[in-house]
Amino acid sequence: MNINPKLFILPSNEVSKYGLENLTYGSLTIKGINLLVKTIKKYKCNNIYGFDIGCGDGELIYQINKLIPESKWEGVEISDHRINCQERDVHIWQGDILDENLREYNVIHVDNLCFDDVLENKLEEKVIREFNGLYITYRKPINNYFIKNSIFLESVDTETTWDSHIIHYYFI
Ligand SMILES: C[S@@+](CC[C@H](N)C(=O)[O-])C[C@H]1O[C@@H](n2cnc3c(N)ncnc32)[C@H](O)[C@@H]1O
Repeated sequence: MNINPKLFILPSNEVSKYGLENLTYGSLTIKGINLLVKTIKKYKCNNIYGFDIGCGDGELIYQINKLIPESKWEGVEISDHRINCQERDVHIWQGDILDENLREYNVIHVDNLCFDDVLENKLEEKVIREFNGLYITYRKPINNYFIKNSIFLESVDTETTWDSHIIHYYFI
């Protein structure tokens, strides 16, 4: 998948507000997306209403939607600049994941490699409180509340633009 280089040219006000670490960017390669989609379809075949947490310019959900045309996807991204880089016809908006309502979705993808531990823990608690469905994460959850209330499905070694990463699939 081609990543728009503009995504990396961040305005200084965003860097000071959110921290460079939290704004780290990377995605899946086309090979990685194919494997992600194949694994999603194993656990959720129809009526997919997916949410990409930290969606950048929405390219990933555009690519997923091409492979599963009957699915519906949305995304939230903390960087206004990245939202403004949107070129695809997808539904994405600027916001902080901790302020979003997860109840309507049945698939969540969160490339949380760059989130700090405080955010990760809050997210895991929020997911268990609000979400029912397939949860796809790059971080093996450590929050006890999450672990007790979810079913681990599998871990899949997946190609990304960084390197390959293990992606973990849970049912909640
Ligand atoms: C590694 S990128 C993932 C991009 C995309 N999901 C993908 O897999 O192709 C993570 C994104 O999460 C965003 N982000 C960081 N903290 C966030 C938060 N609290 N709420 C929403 N997005 C956040 C970052 O700005 C970054 O664009």
